Amino acid sequence: MECVALCRLDELGEGRSRGFDPQGRGADSLFALRHQGQVRVYRNRCPHLSVPLEYRKDRFLSADGQWVVCYAHGARFRPADGACVHGPCRGERLAALQHREVDGWLLLPLQQLEA
Ligand code: FES
Repeated sequence: MECVALCRLDELGEGRSRGFDPQGRGADSLFALRHQGQVRVYRNRCPHLSVPLEYRKDRFLSADGQWVVCYAHGARFRPADGACVHGPCRGERLAALQHREVDGWLLLPLQQLEA
C-alpha cells in the first residue's frame, strides 16, 4: 500500500493535534491527534458547513485536549470517533481516515486523498 509520511509519531504528544497538507494545496486538508494514547486522523472539514475546523495552525483541540472543536460555531467532537456531541451538527461525524504507524512514523495511505 502506497503511503505518505505525515510526521514522526513522537512529534504528536498526548492531547496534541497537527494539521497536514499532503497534496501541497496551501491549506491543511486533514489533521491528526493523540487522545488517551491513540492516534486518529480526520479530514479537516466540519460536517456543519464543510469548512476547516481550526482557528490557527494545528489548533484542533480544546485547551484541555479533550475535544475536537470547530471554531466557526463551536461544535465539539469526540476525539476517539469524531462524533459531534455539541453544536449545530450534533449527531454527525468527522470523516475518519485510516493511518498506519510504522517504525515511529505516522503514515497515510495515499488512496484516501481526494483528487
Ligand atoms: S462550521 Fe463547524 S460548527 Fe458550524
